[in-house]
Amino acid sequence: MTDKRIALVTGAARGIGKAVAERLADEGCLVVAADLDDDDDEGRAPGADRLVFQKTDIARETDVKALFAFIDRTFGRLDVLVNNAGIIRDNLIWNMSADDFDAVLNVNLRGAWLVCREAAERMKAQKSGRIVNIASRAWLGNRGQTNYSASKAGLIGLTRALALELGRYGVSVNAVAPGLIDTPMTRRLEPEILQKLIEAQPTRAMGTPQDVARAVAFLAAAQTGFITGQTLYVDGGKSIGAG
Ligand SMILES: NC(=O)c1ccc[n+]([C@@H]2O[C@H](COP(=O)([O-])OP(=O)(O)OC[C@H]3O[C@@H](n4cnc5c(N)ncnc54)[C@H](O)[C@@H]3O)[C@@H](O)[C@H]2O)c1
Repeated sequence: MTDKRIALVTGAARGIGKAVAERLADEGCLVVAADLDDDDDEGRAPGADRLVFQKTDIARETDVKALFAFIDRTFGRLDVLVNNAGIIRDNLIWNMSADDFDAVLNVNLRGAWLVCREAAERMKAQKSGRIVNIASRAWLGNRGQTNYSASKAGLIGLTRALALELGRYGVSVNAVAPGLIDTPMTRRLEPEILQKLIEAQPTRAMGTPQDVARAVAFLAAAQTGFITGQTLYVDGGKSIGAG
């Protein structure tokens, strides 16, 4: 057992999730890093008092149950949940298969809901907790992302509804909506497309995973519990929409 705050970050092996896990660990949390792999993209599985990797597919209910059984057994509490795991399968709707729609909704929305359900039960009993869901500016709408935009819009709806359910138990639930962030996900885009996206940014720049991690750490802090049901954009101003 430990007297540190216990945080769970999904999709923590690389990109934004990895930066969030590192940031929360720097701020004194003991972080359970749940990902499809049981180490990070540098092959590190740093142990014990900082980061603990748990191989988990959040789209599988049995995996999520096993993850929470591990947390119960090892720590007996959960103070912070960051639902970060997410995937893209982009295409214009007439080229998108129903499987690509299902895959994205399954991980980004149903998976996040499965993890929220387990966390909510425990945080309600503890009468404390912080949940931060990583949505996306794309919930406002992006060409080629009918599946992804729908999943992230759903995640924001989930965030708001759950904030209402958990508010009386001292648990806040918020979303962070990143814009264009430099991660393995965006590095897979065609260079010309990426360049166009950067030029469309008010800041003419991509954000970093650390930019997102700072916002998550703010909402995950013990002192920010009066902020709940909100969506905080970390997008270089792209969501302003004008110009
Ligand atoms: N990169 C961006 O520009 C951007 C912008 C807006 C929102 N986001 C969101 O931020 C989150 C992280 O994005 P990223 O760019 O770091 O992505 P990434 O692809 O670089 O990393 C995602 C991580 O999630 C893990 N993951 C995927 N499916 C999983 C599953 N079923 N169970 C457990 N882990 C799973 C992957 O293994 C990977 O480690 C996602 O939810 C994404 O939608 C990213």
